[in-house]
Amino acid sequence: MFDANVRCLVVVGSQWGDEGKGKLVDVISEGADFVVRYQGGANAGHTVVIGDSQFILRLIPSGILHPTTTCVLGNGVVLDPESFFSELDVLSERGIATEGRVVISDRAHLVLPYHKLLDLAEEKRQNIGTTKRGIGPAYEDKYGRRGIRVGAVRDLAALELLLVDRIRRANEQLALAGMTERASLDEHVALVRRVAPRLLALAADTSLALHRAIKAGKRILLEGAQGSLLDVDHGTYPFVTSSNTTAGGASVGAGIGPTMIDGVLGVVKAYTTRVGNGPLPTMADDVMEEELRRIGHEFGAVTGRPRRCGWFDAVVVRYAARVNGLTALAVTKLDVLDSFDRIPVGVSYLLDGERLDEMPADVTALDRVTPVYEMMEGWKTDTGGARTLAALPTAARVYLDRLQELAEVPIRYVSVGTRRDQIIG
Ligand code: IMP
Repeated sequence: MFDANVRCLVVVGSQWGDEGKGKLVDVISEGADFVVRYQGGANAGHTVVIGDSQFILRLIPSGILHPTTTCVLGNGVVLDPESFFSELDVLSERGIATEGRVVISDRAHLVLPYHKLLDLAEEKRQNIGTTKRGIGPAYEDKYGRRGIRVGAVRDLAALELLLVDRIRRANEQLALAGMTERASLDEHVALVRRVAPRLLALAADTSLALHRAIKAGKRILLEGAQGSLLDVDHGTYPFVTSSNTTAGGASVGAGIGPTMIDGVLGVVKAYTTRVGNGPLPTMADDVMEEELRRIGHEFGAVTGRPRRCGWFDAVVVRYAARVNGLTALAVTKLDVLDSFDRIPVGVSYLLDGERLDEMPADVTALDRVTPVYEMMEGWKTDTGGARTLAALPTAARVYLDRLQELAEVPIRYVSVGTRRDQIIG
């Protein structure tokens, strides 16, 4: 499903995550030689349904479900080794061949148990509503130049010395935060010794591998995790994750130059959801929210938390189009709207009586905006069986046309159900 002129494609979530990137990447990666994760860690939860089987992937790219694809975890990823190997083992148990198909950058940083304890401590202070997977503290260590990278397991004696310092430091922070739990040095030493041989077997200079692949004319798909509005720079700060989820992050986090990338596909739901705290301007009223959540099964794939649900927000998607340089859109979960009589679409905001067409930088301003809605006719028809745009009811086509007009990006794919085959594109 790669377009003929695209060899290196970035796929990014263009709302607050959970846009259905897993399924899209699964479908598109059929034509990819490499699928690369470039940021985030086990906070992501990509759900892919194949036949009667459902796979939830956290760290391993969705491309693993295509037997000829090589999966890469780039330098921008923060890797929880226990979570990673348990995911790999579950895939093997379920008959997916993983041997020789997964490569990890030796520059990726490790997420260790002390990071998860620090995440809990920080949540007590900040209440961001994180996934508690240690993501923020692992990135803090990375940028504070005290992180531990995958390549560090090559010298366990040196790594154990580093751990003495990191555990002492973490325990000081935990005490300051009033936490009763402490990180155990013995436990960490045992963990790194246990995972070192397996990590070393997969560690490589993945930037070099991708560079060679690009030169050889291979097709590369760079799979973003979370969503653009959760980007640490461009998102609704501080209610964001700790990495650059936007397309620029793909270049940095995979170690390939921006000139190599020739397409950026933005994935959006036909409506909007958000998990964790922070503003969601187009949140639906209680009844409609419940309806969207029930029909769309809007519960976190990693944490099980109910997602807040609302209407399509064109301000958000236009902004995402800008900061990512989107070249195309994929609209997912159109079928979730099949039963609604009328469907509101947020086209702009009102802030203190003034019209706002662009995303404000200040989260407190975003908290105060009132969305301006346009009412679209519902189609009241099951779209799950449509495989072409022409097979969609007219009102659904009108709806999609309006979304791409508002987003100022053409729609390339429309997903109408959870199964692999339920796609128009
Ligand atoms: P963290 O990434 O665990 O630090 O969480 C920071 C924010 O990002 C919280 O609001 C999380 O709910 C949100 N978040 C992190 N990963 C995902 C994801 O994969 N989907 C949706 N939201 C996410």
